[in-house]
Amino acid sequence: MQQNQQVHYARSGRVGVITVDYPPVNAVGHGVRSGLLAALETGLADADADILLLTCAGRTFMAGADIREFGKPAAPPTLPEVIARFDASAKPIVAAIHGTALGGGLEVALACHVRVALRGAKLGLPEVKLGLLPGAGGTQRLPRLVGPAKALDMILSGDPVSAEEALALGLVDAVEDGGSALEAGLRVAGRVLAEGWSTRPVSARNDRIAGTDPALFAQRRADLARRLPHLFSPHRIVDAVEAAVTLPFAEGTARERALFLQCMESPQRAGLIHAFFAEREVAKVPGLPADTATRDVRSVGVVGAGTMGGGIAMCFANAGIPVVLLDSAAESLDRGVAAIRRNYEATARKGRLTAAQVEERMALIRPAVSYADLADADLVVEAAFESMEVKRTIFQTLDRTCKPGTILATNTSTLDVDAIAAATGRPQDVLGMHFFSPANVMRLLEVVRGAKTADGVLATVMGLARRIGKVGVAVGVCYGFVGNRILHQRGREAMALVEEGASPAQVDRVLTEFGFPLGHFSMTDLAGIDVGWRIREERRKAGDPEAQAPNWLDALAERGRYGQKTGAGVYRYEPGSRTPIPDLEVDAVIAEDRRRRGVTPRPVSDEEVRERCLYVMVNEAAKILEEGIAARPVDIDAIWLHGYGFPAHRGGLLFWADQEGLGKIVAAVERYDRDIGGPQWRPSALLQQCAAHGRPIAC
Ligand code: 3HC
Repeated sequence: MQQNQQVHYARSGRVGVITVDYPPVNAVGHGVRSGLLAALETGLADADADILLLTCAGRTFMAGADIREFGKPAAPPTLPEVIARFDASAKPIVAAIHGTALGGGLEVALACHVRVALRGAKLGLPEVKLGLLPGAGGTQRLPRLVGPAKALDMILSGDPVSAEEALALGLVDAVEDGGSALEAGLRVAGRVLAEGWSTRPVSARNDRIAGTDPALFAQRRADLARRLPHLFSPHRIVDAVEAAVTLPFAEGTARERALFLQCMESPQRAGLIHAFFAEREVAKVPGLPADTATRDVRSVGVVGAGTMGGGIAMCFANAGIPVVLLDSAAESLDRGVAAIRRNYEATARKGRLTAAQVEERMALIRPAVSYADLADADLVVEAAFESMEVKRTIFQTLDRTCKPGTILATNTSTLDVDAIAAATGRPQDVLGMHFFSPANVMRLLEVVRGAKTADGVLATVMGLARRIGKVGVAVGVCYGFVGNRILHQRGREAMALVEEGASPAQVDRVLTEFGFPLGHFSMTDLAGIDVGWRIREERRKAGDPEAQAPNWLDALAERGRYGQKTGAGVYRYEPGSRTPIPDLEVDAVIAEDRRRRGVTPRPVSDEEVRERCLYVMVNEAAKILEEGIAARPVDIDAIWLHGYGFPAHRGGLLFWADQEGLGKIVAAVERYDRDIGGPQWRPSALLQQCAAHGRPIAC
């Protein structure tokens, strides 16, 4: 008996089996919702079915409501309607969970009367990550099963729990090993009938919520006010869970729905969902067919055992890929390997790795001093000193040593990938893999496609990025590629604003109020002032005509203030603390710099800081699109979201630009072009055209 294309009903013995089959993740869209209702009706009317079983085909249980439907009018039946019917079913329903039961998917399972999870399954309510709250009973039923405190933990973090944890919490009634979800569900359905398990609906269970101390909600509100004051949905989540314990079920559910709809209307929801799809969209490179033949990457070499090389080696080892870590200086190699071990051991101390896992990962990293050890690698990533001469020599050596077909990648952040490729006889196998520091933590990977990079090489590395848990974004060759090129313009404005009269703390406050986790100068302190200072010094000494005159940051570096690592930079830091403290010594250095330049400081408004730091980025991003260095706005959005902490609730740099208003941005860019000048304020033609025609730039 077929219900519709996405949901089927069939019987197995005395069990009526409802199967959702809507690849890839059984998202609960309109077809699934109506199919579920129809299948339920069939099951209830089926005189030969004593009990119903809900299960899913494919790789996972339902992974949530269909996000693609958000923002459009909901076609009936709504998810709460479907769920109410499951809850009230006259026949008990068992939900058999495999893969991930998330969001609306878990909410359907919560409306069933018994839940069984296969070992390895994960269960969660991740709506908060999309700027939402569970809107189909999740905030009302979860506290009834696991208690309000744990429910708040799960719904506010959005992080799933394992099947075992779900069993311990009371979220599922059984965990089964082996076989399919269908088989596990049939076994449990048999036991429910034979052993007379309780099948009371979750909505009628009040023992876990009775007598909840109201202080729980006051504490959570205070915590959110401190940690996430600017986010909308977490505060509504506390309201909804509070309603579960203070109101009867039906009223609590109505309150949840009203709060859910408020979240749905919020611009933060639109931003976070843009960010969700951006992460997935960047994997599909325009003009690169999805069936492009890729190369096998079973082993990797990394050249250079410094901080970057070590972090890159960890990325591969973490994904189970063996790595040869090469450094021609044995001492550097030992230091690099020791740093990797320290890093893993620190993670183990935080409980995120077992001692055995640390050893497994270390065993995957083989130190080497000879290029001969890289001969059989399928991919080599060069992470050596940032000098064209050094890199060209390394690539010539790799070209001589590596087997045909080895992909040769450079981690350069500033040098011309095509010039590096030209040092080899196989430029088609060469590309950039620009990791961000710390490489084992940051999710962004700019995959730099050279003029001659073969399609298969690009496709292989894009796939590999995903395999090692990175968000790979294909970009073209230019100075700084996409991310740093935009950052460079923001940095220039941040410096200029301070030279004119703003304080570093003011610039940073405006950026953190916007939602960046760190301000520009806190980030400079974290990265280290000495790196840029040394590069600028070298250029000055070499008589480079484009070298900038020393600025106040250089003056700080000259005083040994390199940033967090020396306890002082743009700010000072108490020992062991990362909290930036403004410092009078820095004020004096800035004042001296202004005197030397003949600048009389003026009050700079927060609005000017905001416009100059952010609009200059939008203008540069639009130029990057014009030049084709990034293929799509979504690529730039993903780069800033995953590499530079752009606030996800604002969707991404260009998504935000549309919300801000392109007309307003262009008018300001044109004004700064007149008043300040400089190439960074020369308006992008693309931006001007979009503004003139009322066209968004992002979508
Ligand atoms: N709706 C629509 N499409 C979805 C989706 C959803 N809920 N979840 C995933 N997809 C799509 C992805 O966009 C992707 O599409 P593509 O192949 O065209 O790019 C495809 O399914 C596969 O997804 P992933 O690439 O992410 O596959 P993974 O295997 O890496 O991850 C996952 C699977 C863990 C399920 C992950 O996709 C995920 O976390 N999805 C979102 C889950 C979620 O947030 N659910 C809550 C939704 S809100 C809700 O339910 C409201 C309710 O309370 C009323």
